[in-house]
Amino acid sequence: MTRKLFVTTALPYANAAFHIGHMMEYIQADIWVRFQRMQAQREVHFVCADDTHGTPIMIAAEKEGITPQEFVAKIAAGRQQYLDGFHIAFDNWYSTDSPENVELSQDIYRKLRDAGLIVTKTVDRFFDPVKGMFLADRNIKGECPKCGAKDQYGDNCEVCGAAYQPTELVNPFSVFTGSTPIMKPSEQYFFALSDPRCYGFLKEWLNTPGRLQSEMVNKVSEWLGDAGEKLADWDISRDAPYFGIPIPDAPGKFFYVWLDAPVGYLASLKNYCSKNGMDFEALLNDPATEQVHFIGKDIVSFHLLFWPAMLNFAQHPIIDKLKVNVHGHLTVNNEKMSKSRGTGISPLRYLDLKMNPEWLRYYIAFKLNSKVEDLDFNGDDFVARVNSDLIGKYVNIASRCAGFIAKKFDGKLASALSPEARQWISRALTNDGAERQASIANHFENREFGKALREIMEIADITNQYVDENKPWILAKDEGKSAELHDVCTAALILFRQLTILLSPVLPQVAARVSEFLNDDKISWLDTTGDAVYRTMLGRTIGAYSHLMTRVDAKMVEDLFDKPAAPASAAPPAAAAAPALEAVRNPGVEAPAPEIKIDDFTKVDLRIAKIVNCEHVEGSDKLLRLTLDVGEGRLRNVFSGIKGAYKPEELVGKLTVMVANLAPRKMKFGVSEGMVLCASSEDEKTNPGLYLLEPWPGAQPGMRIS
Ligand code: 2FM
Ligand code: ZN
Repeated sequence: MTRKLFVTTALPYANAAFHIGHMMEYIQADIWVRFQRMQAQREVHFVCADDTHGTPIMIAAEKEGITPQEFVAKIAAGRQQYLDGFHIAFDNWYSTDSPENVELSQDIYRKLRDAGLIVTKTVDRFFDPVKGMFLADRNIKGECPKCGAKDQYGDNCEVCGAAYQPTELVNPFSVFTGSTPIMKPSEQYFFALSDPRCYGFLKEWLNTPGRLQSEMVNKVSEWLGDAGEKLADWDISRDAPYFGIPIPDAPGKFFYVWLDAPVGYLASLKNYCSKNGMDFEALLNDPATEQVHFIGKDIVSFHLLFWPAMLNFAQHPIIDKLKVNVHGHLTVNNEKMSKSRGTGISPLRYLDLKMNPEWLRYYIAFKLNSKVEDLDFNGDDFVARVNSDLIGKYVNIASRCAGFIAKKFDGKLASALSPEARQWISRALTNDGAERQASIANHFENREFGKALREIMEIADITNQYVDENKPWILAKDEGKSAELHDVCTAALILFRQLTILLSPVLPQVAARVSEFLNDDKISWLDTTGDAVYRTMLGRTIGAYSHLMTRVDAKMVEDLFDKPAAPASAAPPAAAAAPALEAVRNPGVEAPAPEIKIDDFTKVDLRIAKIVNCEHVEGSDKLLRLTLDVGEGRLRNVFSGIKGAYKPEELVGKLTVMVANLAPRKMKFGVSEGMVLCASSEDEKTNPGLYLLEPWPGAQPGMRIS
């Protein structure tokens, strides 16, 4: 049966150009797609689209004095140079702002409503009394509650990076009118994820083998809790004015961007089908169809809770075919990329520097596995990996042998091979008697690209060993050894062709050039097995070899990174020197506690908690009473001795870390149901401060800390 693969990457927001993280995801998916296209019995449709709706795009367009549609069109027009530049071959690029998406999203919504899974609730929202409209987080500005920077948005500070609630902004104002926003109740539409049917379905869906990586099964199981008690209804509506899709029968209400974004996958496929005379409905209903999403770990909840639940309860045929592959983030030297630290990488700069896109494709592939792990880009490692594998091992084979075929044999490969040559070929292409191509194919299929490339490089190592031992450059000096020279160079080029076929999902451009040089018009995976390895090569006349790839110059990699921002005042040379390697313990830092085992640590259940309220405790000069949301569907009361360090109003709305499984403690003022964590110095004289822990932006109440 022909597998029909409908493959997508996450749809990028149409408010900015691509960054290197997008390229990483697209390259990963593109390699998988190219591999699949080379297999027999595959029909592959690889689509993407711009994710166009939402407030940021609306505001950005307004700033430029153009419509959101014009704004999106401008961003979309810039996409192709990146895709072409890195050889990413989507079959279709579309938009969530499309008739198909309106129809499909509204249809799914109506079916969810018919299933009784849409509920309305009245919630308080910020409202601009002058403009008469509800305000999204990004419609409100004010002073950052952390660093005091002026003119910051209601969700996070662009100066210090702090994340907060719009209610925490100091002197908030509406970006539209400058007026002070007020809280106003508004009726909103929710997808009833707390309905027991959703839990029942998700639990089963999640545990169907082959759908998700095991880490993801565990993560989502945690979100579900024992009986779905942690699932909260999802607010899917936004008030006008909003750039989005109208909610049927709800005047002035639009779908929140994340409702229609994943439907955009289907909209792009539908558009592609209609452009290519394909039957969209038939494809969705075909049991041979698989829908495979490549996404980053930051958008898992949308794809593993809301999206499958939406599809299922809308009785969408694709639900049985849904698979999600989650990858980690791209880091630089094991840290989050940062423009100011000089570790940002711009994809366009990479191309402008004339760096070969296939270097990056190879490096990324080499470091990828099927787990949800971050992928680290390290400049020295990049140079070493590319130069050693691609130049030193792979290209080297052709550059050492092809010239002799042209010069000495009129470009014609030998018509038969010696038993020794055949033995070497077989040794290179098998491992313990099994054809390597099968295990390499398996690795590609399972997205273990690093394993695939390591095995391919083993073939290259054996081929180089063969060339080294037979020394064609010496044989070429002796007329009497002409047949031997012909034999060795032919065998080496047969193996080079094998390497090229196996590498072609990663190096499509090099593969195309090799195919030209070998006069091999169709590179096919079928030629990597059995007699086909020889059949197409023996006696063939090949073209002239021209160098396939240059080495990476380390200087290029230096130029690749964003330049760090210059310091406000130039530091004296001594201060700029590298820090001493020997660490000296800071005053006030206590020695580590006695060693424990990991099991001891995991007994402590640390969770992200949101401080939903905080107040003084009458009669106590040390304690504050915190009301914490740990995502359990109930709130906890915790007393903490941090009164000297924080004012209650500073803490409301913040996230922190709590010990969630500490036995409740009866205190004079009530029961304390846990403990929040603070850093403090051993030596109070050096530093008397108490510092409440706060997670990085993105953490959610209830997440476990491990
Ligand atoms: O996180 C993002 O960039 C979103 N635009 C991804 C959307 S993926 C899909 F749901 F559309
Ligand atoms: Zn700030």
